[in-house]
Parts: sequence; C-alpha cells; structure tokens
Amino acid sequence: MINPFALGLHFLRSQLRSLAVPSTSYAGRTVIVTGANGGLGLEAARHFVRLGAARVILACRSTERGEAAKADIETSNPSPAVIEVWPLDLCSFDSVRAFCCRADQELDRLDVLLANAAMLSLDSTKMAEGYEMQVTANVISNFLMVLMLLPLMKRTAARWNVETNVTVVASEAHFFTRFVQKDQPQIFESFRPGSAMEERYGTTKLLDILIAEELAERLDAGSAGASPVIVNTANPGLCKSSLFRDVFFIGRILVASMVFLLGRTSEEGSRALMAAATGGRETQGKYVDSGKVDSPSQLVQSKEGREVRQRVWGELMTILEGIEPGVTLNVNQGPA
Ligand SMILES: NC(=O)c1ccc[n+]([C@@H]2O[C@H](COP(=O)([O-])OP(=O)(O)OC[C@H]3O[C@@H](n4cnc5c(N)ncnc54)[C@H](OP(=O)(O)O)[C@@H]3O)[C@@H](O)[C@H]2O)c1
Repeated sequence: MINPFALGLHFLRSQLRSLAVPSTSYAGRTVIVTGANGGLGLEAARHFVRLGAARVILACRSTERGEAAKADIETSNPSPAVIEVWPLDLCSFDSVRAFCCRADQELDRLDVLLANAAMLSLDSTKMAEGYEMQVTANVISNFLMVLMLLPLMKRTAARWNVETNVTVVASEAHFFTRFVQKDQPQIFESFRPGSAMEERYGTTKLLDILIAEELAERLDAGSAGASPVIVNTANPGLCKSSLFRDVFFIGRILVASMVFLLGRTSEEGSRALMAAATGGRETQGKYVDSGKVDSPSQLVQSKEGREVRQRVWGELMTILEGIEPGVTLNVNQGPA
C-alpha cells in the first residue's frame, strides 16, 4: 500500500540533501556513460574527464548529438582524456550487441559502466523489439549490455587488481508504482501491450532495482562473497533535464513547477550518479539515493518483493538467452 504522506517526506528528505562535488581521481580509468549527450549523463561524463579518466566513451543513439557533447566537454575541460562517441540505441538489440562486442574488442579495460540512458513515455503504442519501448530500453537492453560487458569488467578487476563498478540509474519513481504486472503469470509478456502507462516508467526503474540486487548477490555468491564487480542503482532526485519532454502538456507544467521549486540542475544530479559509481563495496546491490545508501521501496524489501525478484530474474535470463545465447553464463564465469 502506497502511503503518499510518507513518500512525500521521503522525497523531500532526499531532494534537500546536498551533494558534494565529486573528487575521487579516475586517473588511468576507462569509463562508459550511456545517454551522455545531454542531461545528467553529459554532466557525469564531464566529471569523469575532469577527474582524470584516461578514456571516456559517450554511448549515444545520435552520433551527431554525441559529437556535440564531446566538443562541449572538451571546451570546458581541456584534458588529455580520450573522449570517444560510440553509437548505442537501447531500442535495438543489434545495436546493443554491436556496442558490447566493440567494447570487448577495443577496450583494454572498463572500470565504470554508468547505465544512465533511459526514456519516459506515456504512449502505449511505442514498441521496440516486441516490448513496450521503455521496458526494452530501460530494462532489457540495459541488462543485455551489463551482462555482455561483465567479462571485460571481470578481466579489468583481475588484471589491475581493482574494483569495477556498474551503476544503473534508477529513480524515486519506483516508489510510486503499484507494479500491476507482478500478478501476471508472465511478467515480461504482460509488457507487450501497453497498459498502466501512468506507472510504466516507475515500473521499469523498479525492475532495474530488483534485477541489480539479484545480479549483485549472484556475483558475490560466485566470488566467495566479494565480487570485484560492484553493481548498484542510483537515484539522482528530481532534476532539470529533457526527460519529461514527452509528457502531456499539463503534466509538463506540473513537473516544471516542481523542478523550479525543488529540482536540482543536471550537474547537481550527476553528482549523485558519481557517488554511486565511486561507492565501492558498501554499495554492492544497494540503492544509492542522492549520494547515500538508502532503503528502496517497501515492495523491494518485502517477502513478496524478493519472490517477484526471482521471477523477474528468471524471465529476464530467458529473454537475454534468446537474444544472445550464452550471455547469462557471464554472471557466474570467472575472468576470461
Ligand atoms: N531528470 C530527473 O528528474 C530524473 C530523476 C530520476 C532519475 N532520472 C534518470 O536519470 C537518467 C538520465 O536522465 P536525464 O534526466 O538526464 O534525461 P535526458 O536529458 O532525457 O537524458 C536521457 C539520455 O538517455 C538517452 N536515451 C534515451 N533513449 C535512448 C535509447 N533508446 N538509446 C540510447 N540512449 C537513449 C537520451 O538520448 P537522446 O538525447 O538521443 O534522447 C539522453 O542522452 C535516466 O535514467 C533517468 O531515468 C532522472
């Protein structure tokens, strides 16, 4: 049962938390930021460059917008970092596969994967790869990418004796979803037609949290309790960005008013993503809310949530095997 008063207080507490400017060095590190051409992704990529990363890959669905972002970062940060724009469209499994194969072949290390790209839409007719578009982009493709990049991240950890970090950007919106599909016999199948669109974005973010928790547990279980690959989720809070561009007019006015009163700039929001990406072992499997490990929604923490998590994980692994046979073995295999 969603308690609006408690949720409102939770939102305010998190939103009013101040976020320190990131200062951890990334010297010598290689980083991928998806959706890096604008909003929080662009600002996070700018921080990584400023903090000395050797190689920063801007993974963008529009190369043109990616190149503009690269020029913008280079102007604000004259640094020796190699900034590259690589195409990645999370609405296409072929694009995700091509991106990950390229990373596996061309990168000698991958220290941070900031899975930031996502979309928000209320349009039930927009489909991609047979699923409603947000489910494809925000969930299925995101974890196809994570699992395909795991061997490279495990190799990086083993070769340089470092922890590597996957941060999946979640949202406070996951608190507000009833997740009506959880009662269906096949959860992902029920996302094929668009329904309950008012809570769809929040549901995709809830799924991200459930899957990231399960993945982190499994990685730890396969590494004597201490996987060198850290997987966490990050909530940047309400921020000014283009995320709400497809929301209907009145909705946009409402969001714009909230952002005006309480919102962070994209740069401030990106600090929350940086905090999670730098969080280390204490953030393994955790929800990092505005820079601090915090509790996700009651559903995630409940017995029912843990059962749903198992079902979601099982269904997702079947889907991912259908897209890229053998990819699920990457969770348990050691560094290749
Ligand atoms: N802004 C907020 O208040 C807020 C709050 C909580 C969580 N978040 C999360 O923060 C993250 C960043 O969002 P933002 O606020 O910075 O929004 P944004 O400005 O809309 O940025 C989203 C990024 O994702 C990219 N993207 C969208 N669909 C894609 C696809 N199919 N393939 C590849 N890239 C795609 C966008 O590329 P294009 O420019 O080509 O569309 C853009 O670069 C998201 O995960 C969002 O859910 C935001």
